[in-house]
Amino acid sequence: MAAVRGWLLVPIYLSILGHATDDQLLLEEGILAESALQKPRVLLALLARNAAHTLPYFLDCIDKLDYPKSRMAIWAATDHNIDNTTAILREWLKSVQKLYHYVEWRPMAEPRSYTDEFGPKHWPASRYAHVMKLRQAALRTAREKWSDFIFFIDVDNFLTNPQTLNRLIEENKTIVAPMLESRTLYSNFWCGMTPQVSITYGNSYGQHFSLCSVQYTPPHVHVKSRSGLDLKEKHKGYYKRTPDYILLREWKRQGCFAVPMIHSTMLIDLRKEASVNLQFYPPHEDFTWSFDDIIVFAFSCRNAGIQMYICNKEHYGYLPLPLKPHQALEDDIESFTHVLTEVMVDRPPLETSRYVHVPPKQPDKLGFDEVYMINLKRRMDRRVRMLRSLYELKIQVKIFDAVDGKALNASQIKTLNIDVLPGYYDPYSGRTLTRGEIGCFLSHYYVWNEVNEIANKNHTRMQRSL
Ligand SMILES: *[C@@H]1O[C@H](CO)[C@@H](O)[C@H](O)[C@H]1NC(C)=O
Ligand SMILES: *[C@@H]1O[C@H](CO)[C@@H](O)[C@H](O)[C@H]1NC(C)=O
Ligand SMILES: *[C@@H]1O[C@H](CO)[C@@H](O)[C@H](O)[C@H]1NC(C)=O
Ligand SMILES: *[C@@H]1O[C@H](CO)[C@@H](O)[C@H](O)[C@H]1NC(C)=O
Repeated sequence: MAAVRGWLLVPIYLSILGHATDDQLLLEEGILAESALQKPRVLLALLARNAAHTLPYFLDCIDKLDYPKSRMAIWAATDHNIDNTTAILREWLKSVQKLYHYVEWRPMAEPRSYTDEFGPKHWPASRYAHVMKLRQAALRTAREKWSDFIFFIDVDNFLTNPQTLNRLIEENKTIVAPMLESRTLYSNFWCGMTPQVSITYGNSYGQHFSLCSVQYTPPHVHVKSRSGLDLKEKHKGYYKRTPDYILLREWKRQGCFAVPMIHSTMLIDLRKEASVNLQFYPPHEDFTWSFDDIIVFAFSCRNAGIQMYICNKEHYGYLPLPLKPHQALEDDIESFTHVLTEVMVDRPPLETSRYVHVPPKQPDKLGFDEVYMINLKRRMDRRVRMLRSLYELKIQVKIFDAVDGKALNASQIKTLNIDVLPGYYDPYSGRTLTRGEIGCFLSHYYVWNEVNEIANKNHTRMQRSL
């Protein structure tokens, strides 16, 4: 009876649903589509030290990552601080912990420095070892919690592209880094290492890196390692500049490229079988080169048969230049203002996380009586950017509306008694004065007038010509 009924009903349902196949039952409600997979589980590993100046901006980039927080865990460690890093990180974690799957927090109030370091930018062996152990601890946690990925980001790397994590996951590489920009050619990858490495690695090294195999160091390029060493020194396993490096760094070749070294920000896929052999600490027993965390880890990857990749398909974010070992925290803070202003050249300014309280900066006039900023009213974009940059640099300015040379007509210029010196031609272009140059001159002239008017006082002027 059932068979007969089925035989009778099938043609009717087919005509309604249109796509019933052999392995589908006939449901009156219609068939629900399968839901998408949940996003992979990512453990974000943060190691912060003396980062009070960068953390609020860094954490905002994390806040803005377009990735479900419920699929992310945070592993955060901080120690050896002489600044407010611990309090800032704690404040942020307290606010966000309910958003994330879980949070592991490892603050250490004392000691405030390593006994064998001569400053916060110096990397003695004890510091390398400590950082490697922390990374290893984060990796262990990620494995224990069965995270699919572990994402290491230095807390002075700013992922301004909220899709960075998604894009890196899509690459399906065991270890991959987003290429980060600095205000020089410095970035978070190497295309080559010094010859000691290729010799030690033997044939296995180099053959995979056809892109990066040419060895060449442009004389004008000054490169530093993460730890601030001058990389032109022939340290074992140290950086080597290749022509490919510049092609990648300047986006002349875009993609994801096999390279011998990535550092600072990197995503590791713990689902890949080879990843089980990765370790940050202790260094591999065959490791004999410079005791530097990034080199130790690159060696570990090679030993595990894992290729490192750098991606520059998009713009992902920024990192500061490394400082020299003798430099102070103040130098680091100043260096960071360059990152803040550099970002604004092409992108919206970095913001601070809404989960941390950041006291407003106190701009001043640098000891001058007045600091003028000359700006054309019709260039509001430049005005806004300059004001923001000057705020970040803590410089308080008085805006002076520029004379718009393009809006001046001949009779006005004549009335102002402005005339070009007879026979004057611009030494570069050979032309005479432009309206813009007349406007520029007049703007400065009027500033000088104002300075004069506020006489008796000794006024000095710092001007920005925009
Ligand atoms: C340190 O950071 C905490 C949390 O953001 C803040 O409440 C406190 O005022 C800061 N202290 C100093 C000395 O900046
Ligand atoms: C990702 O790579 C693995 C091998 O590591 C492969 O088995 C898998 O099919 C790849 N996934 C995608 C979506 O390409
Ligand atoms: C020049 O501009 C002024 C002010 O806008 C205007 O009063 C004057 O008529 C203009 N002269 C000529 C010749 O266009
Ligand atoms: C400006 O005046 C202040 C005191 O009013 C004085 O200390 C300073 O030396 C003066 N600067 C110059 C360049 O004269």
